[in-house]
Amino acid sequence: MSGKVKVLLVGAAFSADLHMEGYARCRDIAQIVAICDKDVSRIKELAERFGVENYKAYDNYDDAIDEVECDLVDICLPNFLHHDVALKAFKKGRHVISEKPLATTAEDAWEMVDAAVKAGRKLFYAEDWLFAPALGKALEIVEEGAIGKPMYIRARECHNGSHSPFTQTIKYCGGGCMVHLGIHPVGFMLALKNNRWTELVAMTSGGSENNYIHKKMEGEDWAACIIKFEDGTSALLESNYITVGGMEDVIDIYGTDGCMHIDLTFSSAIKCFSTPGLKYTVEKADMTKGWSRPAVDEKFNLGYVGEIRHFMECCLENRDAKTGLRGIDGLEALKVINLIYKSAKEGRKIVNEAISV
Ligand SMILES: NC(=O)c1ccc[n+]([C@@H]2O[C@H](COP(=O)([O-])OP(=O)(O)OC[C@H]3O[C@@H](n4cnc5c(N)ncnc54)[C@H](O)[C@@H]3O)[C@@H](O)[C@H]2O)c1
Repeated sequence: MSGKVKVLLVGAAFSADLHMEGYARCRDIAQIVAICDKDVSRIKELAERFGVENYKAYDNYDDAIDEVECDLVDICLPNFLHHDVALKAFKKGRHVISEKPLATTAEDAWEMVDAAVKAGRKLFYAEDWLFAPALGKALEIVEEGAIGKPMYIRARECHNGSHSPFTQTIKYCGGGCMVHLGIHPVGFMLALKNNRWTELVAMTSGGSENNYIHKKMEGEDWAACIIKFEDGTSALLESNYITVGGMEDVIDIYGTDGCMHIDLTFSSAIKCFSTPGLKYTVEKADMTKGWSRPAVDEKFNLGYVGEIRHFMECCLENRDAKTGLRGIDGLEALKVINLIYKSAKEGRKIVNEAISV
């Protein structure tokens, strides 16, 4: 393929905005040719904000997929719709980017992977952590041996609850904070260890009335998992919706000769005190008065810009994405999330039978 990747963006709200930042910075190789959202006012607003011109607007993704001449369909819709849109896009011979989680069930996720193979097209899994520059630098430091052999990693994504109404009902989303937020640390660790996990044990708050705060949410609002890998590394992966003050994306790496602490959301170079408050500081901040650490280029630092360029380059060269960003990696991450739920529900350790230890 030569020229620019023509993109149909499906969904025009929160995650579409994150992806748009990426497209806005790779206009040399990508072009948004159409945007679809059942709420058309969001399409106009999004396109105007990012200066997208000469695009077609659709309120129905069946029509959009059918009519739009494009190379790739980028799915920024609620979790339960990823499967349907992806299958329709592959049927039309398009490549697909799916937001996380790949689907609400492992069966649907597997069908998406299978449909991509049968169509001879790529399924890209949008795990932005893998493009966060700070994490990339941290892995370089590990690679040079500066902290010895990593033995234990602690990673978490936590905030005060999702803005999206679809995240309240398991049928629409597949679970609670672990499937929404914990899938980032899970995906990151699986990519680091090439999916070679051996055993895990987990606990969650249980969902609904058992939750700490979000009693109306069917999924859990707190979850933690201890997981071991074939090379002996262990990790504690956590997510919760009970964290106030802004989103925490924190990774701690303990090695035989040192350790490292990476803070993706509160490591701004700016420290500000404001009496009236700022317009915005960091994702999911409850308030912006008093002391804050206003994010600098937040979408770049969380990896959204890098992931979109990577997917566009893969598309142009018709190659698979890097480990952690392929459809099969999204499938593996979802399988692990489901086993975390199983472990928590049954109160027992789960062993990965596919890998002998
Ligand atoms: N990688 C990340 O950090 C990140 C962050 C947020 C969300 N996400 C993921 O992105 C996806 C979307 O989440 P969001 O936060 O943008 O959700 P959202 O609720 O903010 O937006 C969903 C959009 O989809 C539209 N929509 C719903 N049903 C539709 C239909 N049938 N046809 C057309 N449009 C329809 C809605 O009108 C809305 O504009 C989810 O899978 C979520 O897990 C990823």
